Amino acid sequence: MKQSQRLDQLIQQLSDGEFHSGQSLGEQLNISRAAVNQHIHKLEELGLELFSVSGKGYKLSQQLELLDKEKIKQATEHFTNEPDFAVYSVVDSSNDELKLLAQEQKLAAGYSVFAEAQTAGRGRRGKRWISPFGSNLYFSVYWPLAEGIHGAMGLSLAVGVALAECFGSLGIEGVGLKWPNDVYIKGKKVSGILVDLETLADGSAHSIIGIGINLKMPESVAQHIDQAWTDISSEIPTIMSRNLIAARVRDSVLACLSEYDAAGLSVFQERWRAYDQFLDKPVRLVMGQRECVGTCRGIDENGALLVQDETGVKRYFGGEISLRLQQ
Ligand code: BTN
Repeated sequence: MKQSQRLDQLIQQLSDGEFHSGQSLGEQLNISRAAVNQHIHKLEELGLELFSVSGKGYKLSQQLELLDKEKIKQATEHFTNEPDFAVYSVVDSSNDELKLLAQEQKLAAGYSVFAEAQTAGRGRRGKRWISPFGSNLYFSVYWPLAEGIHGAMGLSLAVGVALAECFGSLGIEGVGLKWPNDVYIKGKKVSGILVDLETLADGSAHSIIGIGINLKMPESVAQHIDQAWTDISSEIPTIMSRNLIAARVRDSVLACLSEYDAAGLSVFQERWRAYDQFLDKPVRLVMGQRECVGTCRGIDENGALLVQDETGVKRYFGGEISLRLQQ
């Protein structure tokens, strides 16, 4: 048995949140107690919070609801028409995993992967995306770009709208969008989108749309996040199954991607405005060493940010811009 399979088994055993002795875990996994101890350290490295009490054994700080393909399927409306998806345990990055899959086989539009943890989760502008095991959602979708890569900016904005609408439908209040595609709740970041683009030798192009959603961020890793953040479990009015949230997010994203393909970004412009947390507010744009100030006026039909200054409304485009509220 591979080490990764042993880790999965160990997590499965511990997921009930109860104490398990080192001896019983060793017997289940067919390994020594010392090896159990080593595996427990690996789980801690993956961001799981564990207690170890002599005479009692090991226990997760809280019960885990592991992602389960069947449960996600059952919770997905109209699943028969939707593309397939996979659930992985530990990956480097779900975007990179899906990119490899796309090189190996022909994927249907909307084929997606979920991962329980990422050891090299990537955020925008070269940042790391903190991806502890079993507590959040890390999700990537394969989407061909029939019009080439210039449609990609609009696409990522449409996905932002999909997430905001999904969170709103879960009863969460204070959901907001920040251009180009960060999702906030009451001014704190809850979700981010990273779109990787690939153009192939035959001229066709596709995107890998990576979505990270904080569901229940463990205290132990939260200290590494360098901005104001929140998670769904702190904001949602009722406790909700992780698999159900995964299904709802996937449903919402796939629906918006199809809508975007059929009608472009114009159908999302008004919907974006409903969530735009900087709309009509004084903003500052940071582009490397350069800075611009003005009033945010939403987005245009191509997904460019509109900022009004004394000379008129200007359009800003491109992933390296950081948008901030003027203090
Ligand atoms: C951001 O910086 O706001 C974008 C974060 C995107 C994180 C997600 S998690 C799933 C996918 N895999 C990655 O490595 N990154 C994206």
